[in-house]
Amino acid sequence: MLIDNHGRPISYLRLAVTDKCNLRCFYCMPEEGLNWLSRAELMTYNEMLRVCRVMVNMGIEKIRITGGEPFARKDIMQLLASISELEGLKELSITTNGVLTAPYVPELKKIGVKSVNLSLDTLDANRFFTITRRDEFANVITALETMLYHDMEVKINAVVMDGKNTQDILPMVELTRNLPVNVRFIEEMPFNGDGHVYDGLRWDYVRILNEIKTVYPDISKLDDPAWSTAYNYQVPGHKGSIGIIAAYSRTFCGTCNRIRITPQGQLKTCLYDDGVLNVRDLLREGVADDKLQDILGDAFKHRPKDGWEAERKREPRTGIHESMATIGG
Ligand code: GTP
Ligand code: 5AD
Ligand code: SF4
Repeated sequence: MLIDNHGRPISYLRLAVTDKCNLRCFYCMPEEGLNWLSRAELMTYNEMLRVCRVMVNMGIEKIRITGGEPFARKDIMQLLASISELEGLKELSITTNGVLTAPYVPELKKIGVKSVNLSLDTLDANRFFTITRRDEFANVITALETMLYHDMEVKINAVVMDGKNTQDILPMVELTRNLPVNVRFIEEMPFNGDGHVYDGLRWDYVRILNEIKTVYPDISKLDDPAWSTAYNYQVPGHKGSIGIIAAYSRTFCGTCNRIRITPQGQLKTCLYDDGVLNVRDLLREGVADDKLQDILGDAFKHRPKDGWEAERKREPRTGIHESMATIGG
């Protein structure tokens, strides 16, 4: 098992395969999009696969493919299929916005992807347009239906925003009555690529929970894995469950099992570091696998203990110019 300098197991890699996206969620990026990375800046699939292989050899057990929007990158299924074959990898999953996802669901299942995290902030087509600035609601719902039809585990990610979608909280809880989905309400974080001015967290974990309890006072707490980002609950009798991700009001640092690679190859050993080294550059300089393993091993022994604590003390707390799409969430 891979253990960092603070005794925390590292078992989970979040690999962002592109910064590009076909939506423009205002909490993630501005209307005009980002200053997209060029093709040469992006890691190639061969480079990604090689890094994944080395990391799985070192002890990474779970890889989540994120973006941007993974399906916005050409031939992404090729990469997924090759990663799924890595010996020692226990779980491959993906976070997607669902716009292009439906036709890929059978293939995802075939290569062993059992669960998908789907970003969906509202059940109303007009509000979807206001939030994402794109008219793609119907495609996302089709993706959800297709995934459920194929018995995939689905977690719905809904970022809760004051004045934008708080009226969706209760209907989304209601969705769990008959559907076996995990609906997760996420505190908005200030990673928005200057998409809007972040003026503080209005809906934190406690407020979201209280809103749910106005109609479902008897929700019960479920057991969460130690490294879970979400506090999970269930309304008695409902098929699905709900989760609240206190992404900004609480720290996950004590049990953080995750590292990240950005689309241009920056290795982040903490969400709040700027990247501690660039694996793409190392590969392009011709590094051998064993040397790469040593370099990564060293980086894993220099992880910050509590990156969020340092972030929390940073003033002013008006926003981080980076977009979630360039970090991979
Ligand atoms: P699983 O546990 O594998 O389902 O994934 P996840 O919940 O980590 O991933 P997902 O991509 O669905 O992200 C859900 C939300 O959690 C997003 O808003 C992420 O930005 C946020 N998140 C993920 N990792 C971290 C983290 O290390 N710290 C904080 N504060 N938020 C995170
Ligand atoms: N705050 C919280 N969550 C965010 N996501 C994107 N931007 C933000 C933000 N500013 C979420 C998306 C997606 C996940 C990877 O990150 O909704 O589901
Ligand atoms: Fe795209 Fe996800 Fe960012 Fe929305 S949150 S713009 S779907 S990358």
